[in-house]
Amino acid sequence: MSESDSPIDISTDAPGDDPGGGDSAQRTRPQAVVVRCEQLTKIYGRGDIATRALDRVDLELRAGEVVALTGPSGSGKSTLLHILGTMDVPTSGSATVLDHELGRLDDEAASVFRNRHLGFIFQFFHLVPSLTARENIALPGRLAGRPRAECDAVAADLARRVGLGEHLERFPDQLSGGQRQRVALARALLNSPALVLADEPTGNLDHAAGGEVMDLLIRLGKEEGVAVLVATHDPAVTGAADREIALLDGCRVEGPRAGAPADHAAAPRR
Ligand SMILES: Nc1ncnc2c1ncn2[C@@H]1O[C@H](COP(=O)(O)OP(=O)(O)O)[C@@H](O)[C@H]1O
Ligand SMILES: [Mg+2]
Repeated sequence: MSESDSPIDISTDAPGDDPGGGDSAQRTRPQAVVVRCEQLTKIYGRGDIATRALDRVDLELRAGEVVALTGPSGSGKSTLLHILGTMDVPTSGSATVLDHELGRLDDEAASVFRNRHLGFIFQFFHLVPSLTARENIALPGRLAGRPRAECDAVAADLARRVGLGEHLERFPDQLSGGQRQRVALARALLNSPALVLADEPTGNLDHAAGGEVMDLLIRLGKEEGVAVLVATHDPAVTGAADREIALLDGCRVEGPRAGAPADHAAAPRR
């Protein structure tokens, strides 16, 4: 995956060069804004039973930063991921990814956009049981119409980078939980997305396996210049992220690790 192929080679109002040090890839490019939400509001139901799942949320994510999305159950984390994942639409306000306002995409455009620019990682992996690790990883490329040989080559490269090189021909039920989540991570990156959305990616893993998956997600996210938003209850995940976006009752609140995007986007990994 060369730099010129990257979908995030845009530079809307990015800050000046080298906002905070970091590796050479981070230094040579300003941190492009990948996601911008303005007064994003989602109300489910109406009248007495209306639930304000998101309440005027403003946020920005930049290329190469890993952000923990925290808050108690019911605070709106999944709703935000669903809207950014084009699986739901805002009631008011806007969510923009790569200059596409998501609420304006029709179903077909949303599906193309999702496959081209987004990667997903779920708590329960969501691998296709009848496909090998290699086929699972390559699947988003095949769905995007890319040639099989190209998808297989990218899949093999990503599998190597997540430490699954020897297990490419295994089926999901022949892999441990940590290995399955590494397949899901490689799959999420197959089409060089601009944004990876992860909903409790360590929630079904033991501490060691969860830590490995997070280390890989952070390392590969930075290598690929991807913005990563991770909904989590896991303090280790929040601690490993560049910063935190905390929600309470659908509103953004100051979490302990809140910070300005540009301050952290290019920070060296801990
Ligand atoms: N499809 C839906 N219909 C009605 N209410 C919903 C729906 N999805 C979520 N909610 C409500 O929105 C609020 C936020 O939920 P959610 O985004 O799932 O929170 P979290 O992921 O932080 O646990 C909750 O009160 C939840 O019950
Ligand atoms: Mg949730």
